[in-house]
Amino acid sequence: MYKYVINGGHVLRGSVAVSGFKNAADGILPAAIMCGEPLRIENIPCIRDVLLWFDIFREMGVSVKTLNAHAFEIDASSVYTGNPPFEHMRNMRASYYLLGAMLSRFGRALVSLPGGCDFGDRPIDQHIKAFEAMGATIEVKGGVITAETEDGKLHGAHIYFDVITVGGTINAMLGATLAEGTTVLENCAREPHIVDVANFLNSMGADIRGAGTNVIKIRGVKKLHSCSYAIIPDQIEAGTYMVFAAATGGDLTVTGVIPKHLESITVKLRETGVTVEEFDDAVRVTRTGKLRRANVKTQEYPGFPTDMQPQFAAMLCLADRTSTVTESIFDSRFKYTSELKRMGARIHVDGKVATIEPAGELTGAVVRACDLRAGAAMIVAGLVARGTTEIEDIVYVERGYEDIVGKLRAVGADISRVKVDPPAGALSAI
Ligand code: EPZ
Repeated sequence: MYKYVINGGHVLRGSVAVSGFKNAADGILPAAIMCGEPLRIENIPCIRDVLLWFDIFREMGVSVKTLNAHAFEIDASSVYTGNPPFEHMRNMRASYYLLGAMLSRFGRALVSLPGGCDFGDRPIDQHIKAFEAMGATIEVKGGVITAETEDGKLHGAHIYFDVITVGGTINAMLGATLAEGTTVLENCAREPHIVDVANFLNSMGADIRGAGTNVIKIRGVKKLHSCSYAIIPDQIEAGTYMVFAAATGGDLTVTGVIPKHLESITVKLRETGVTVEEFDDAVRVTRTGKLRRANVKTQEYPGFPTDMQPQFAAMLCLADRTSTVTESIFDSRFKYTSELKRMGARIHVDGKVATIEPAGELTGAVVRACDLRAGAAMIVAGLVARGTTEIEDIVYVERGYEDIVGKLRAVGADISRVKVDPPAGALSAI
């Protein structure tokens, strides 16, 4: 077990390179097992979620060959479907993409109900609705989803999502790729990683049009072929470093990004008085004056991303006047505010709205990462707090941020990753 120890008050200066997009990799890696030929995927981030995918692959007889730190050859020419690695699947949300991938290629799937960050109820009814519309029979029992098809294939269907769901959109796209006939998905999510998964599938010979809009049309193909593909840069990692820079009053260039994907974050940062300069594949974030208040409301893309909500709220604790943050995607994504209050934050949560009073300054404390982006929010607070902050449960953070300690230290942060001693009197391993 490890924790982060941060001595606050250091301004971030310099440049930081963004890794491949976790949420794109979480869709592209399961999609890779729909192909019966070896393929090359590049710009894969070195994070726990990816290592978990590779563990799942090895249990399923899918070979993973390391080409370099961020490039791998995946060979799913033979996939063992007899004994799914439920334990691994339970450890992340994205394992539900195995439903679409396995149904698409094999006409059947056995997947455990997904795990993932706890923001209240996170149903998968829309995923199930899509697969049933495509002819699958789905049973959920004992924490396991069993999906079967009558003739070993999914069939094209016209599906209208009742809610805009990133996972449902990607999963249905996977299922429709090798289905008999054409599928039309309506009321789709439009996130950049949905486009990335569609581009990857099309690189393997799929026929998907409209990804990135709210209507996606997929003409089923017989099989997929090998390809070489590079994952897009991580929109949320980039946004997180932009907030790190803004909160510390620094001057940070975030490189290897697609500025268009960051537009809603850039606009909101500018509202708080932060300067954001955009270049072809980089953004430069500087703050010299005080931080101004802002009102944030999370929306589906291209709105302000819910995955940036905790980080932004932590920064707004330092604003000159009262700000509000409205979480409109998830039921309860404010658990982290109780950890921020341990550092002196003045936040009141009422349902979907957090009201953030100026805290003046934050002070270091022992806190924990409640989930992936909550952990990033605690780092924002630790970087600006007076004194030392210790962040526990950092395993969540390392699910989605590659080498966050190395990247932050390189631009001036005083942060280290320290082994946690077992509590005194703890039973030693027998
Ligand atoms: C994806 O989760 C991301 N995870 C999340 O990122 C992100 O917060 C979320 O999209 C929204 O952008 C991955 O890509 C692995 P949804 P997902 O389905 O697909 C409801 C991070 O920090 N819903 O778009 O689970 C749902 O309850 C993680 O990187 C249904 O009602 O999100 C929620 O209120 C956290 N029924 C809303 O839709 C369904 O069948 C959006 O969820 C599916 C979803």
